[in-house]
Amino acid sequence: MNFELTEEQISVQQAARDFAQSELLPGVIDRDNEQRFPAEQVKKMGELGFMGMMTDPKYNGGGMDSISYVLAMEEISKVDASASVCMSVNNSLVCWGLERFGSEEQKEKYLKKLATGEVIGAFCLSEPEAGSDATSQRTTAEDKGDHYLLNGTKNWITNGKSASVYIVIAQTHPEKKHKGINALIVERGMPGFVVGRKEDKMGIRGSDTHSLMFTDVKVPKANRIGEDGFGFTFAMTTLNGGRIGIAAQALGIAAGAYELALKYAKERKAFGKHLTEHQAIQFKLADMATKIDGARLLIWKAAYLKDQKKDFVKAAAMAKLYASQIAQEVTTEAVQIHGGYGYVKEFHVERLMRDAKITQIYEGTTEIQKMVISRELLR
Ligand code: CAA
Repeated sequence: MNFELTEEQISVQQAARDFAQSELLPGVIDRDNEQRFPAEQVKKMGELGFMGMMTDPKYNGGGMDSISYVLAMEEISKVDASASVCMSVNNSLVCWGLERFGSEEQKEKYLKKLATGEVIGAFCLSEPEAGSDATSQRTTAEDKGDHYLLNGTKNWITNGKSASVYIVIAQTHPEKKHKGINALIVERGMPGFVVGRKEDKMGIRGSDTHSLMFTDVKVPKANRIGEDGFGFTFAMTTLNGGRIGIAAQALGIAAGAYELALKYAKERKAFGKHLTEHQAIQFKLADMATKIDGARLLIWKAAYLKDQKKDFVKAAAMAKLYASQIAQEVTTEAVQIHGGYGYVKEFHVERLMRDAKITQIYEGTTEIQKMVISRELLR
C-alpha cells in the first residue's frame, strides 16, 4: 500500500492551496456576511482547471484522478466552502454525470463548456417534499413526442442562480415509481423556467442556493440523459461520486479550522505560558489531528477505489459520514481553543463551524449515509 502522493498530485494540491490563500481568503468574510457568490473567483477556478478536473481532456477537462480532485477540494474548502461546493457540484455531479452517461451530442454541447468553467452546472433533485426521500419526485416530465413538458419546483439548489445548465430529475411514468424517472438537461432561459427565492442560510452563505420553478418548460428529447426511466439510477450513481467531493469539503473545513487553532495556540499565552503548553489544549489538538487523518484516509480510499473502477459506494458513504461528523467536532473545538476570539468573525473559525453543518445534510444526510452503508453491509 502506497500513501505517497505523486508529483502531479502534490502540484495540484499546492496550486489549490496557493489559489485559496491568494484569491479566496481576501474577502471571504465579506462574501459570507453579504451572501455574495464568489463569481470572479469561480471564473478563475475554471481558468486554472478546477471546474472539470476529472473530465477527459477531449471534453476540455483536466483528465486528473479523483485523488487530485479531493486534494484540491480539501485545500479550497479550508478557506472558502462556498466556492468549494460550487466546484464540487460542477465536477462530481454535473461533469462526471454527463461524461459517464450523456450522449456524444450532450457532451459536445454542454460538457465542453462546463469542464472549463465557462458555464456552471446545477444538479436538481431535491423538492419541497422530496429531500432524503428522493424516489417521491413530484416534478413531472410529460412525454410529448419530441419533447418533455416539465412542471414542478426544486428546492435548495446549489448554483441555483449562477448556473446555466441544470440537470433536472423528474417523473415521467408515476406508475413505474423510481423506474419512471428521467434526468433532463435544462438550459437557463428556456421559457417557463424561473429561478426563485434565494435561501438565507446558516453557513456556506456565499453559495447561491435557490428554489427553481418550471411551468410547461419544453425540453427536447435529445436532452434526456440515458434511456427512458434511467433518471433515478443516474441520480443515485452520480451522488455516490458526489459524496466523495462533499466528504473532502468536510475534511477541508475541519483541517482549515485545525490549522487556525494550532497557529493561535502557538501564539497565545494564558496563565504565563503558551496555550500549546497546556495539556488540555495538547489533548484537544491530538484528538482533532487524529480525526482529520482518519477522515482523510477514508476519503483517499474511496477516491482510489473509484479511480480503480471498483465498487466505491460504501467507501464513499463512510467517508462522507465520518468526515462530516468530525467536521462538527473539530470546528467546535477550534472555536473553543480560540475562546472569545473564536466567536467573532475575523478569526474565521466561527464561519467554518457554521459551514461544517451542511456537510451532514446535502448529498445525503447522515442518516442516508447510514442507510447506504448498512444496505451494502447486509446485501
Ligand atoms: N447507488 C446506486 N443505486 C442506488 C443507490 C446507490 N447509492 N441507492 C439506491 N439505489 C437504487 C436501488 O438499487 C434501487 O434500484 P432498483 O430498483 O433498480 O434495484 C433504487 O435506487 C431505489 O432504491 P430503494 O428502493 O432502496 O429506494 P429507497 O427510497 O428505499 O432509498 C435512497 C433510496 C438511498 C434513500 C435515496 O432516495 C437517496 O439516496 N436519497 C438521498 C438523496 C440525496 O442524496 N439528495 C441530495 C440532493 S443533491 C444535492 O444535495 C446536491 C447539492 O446541491 C449540493
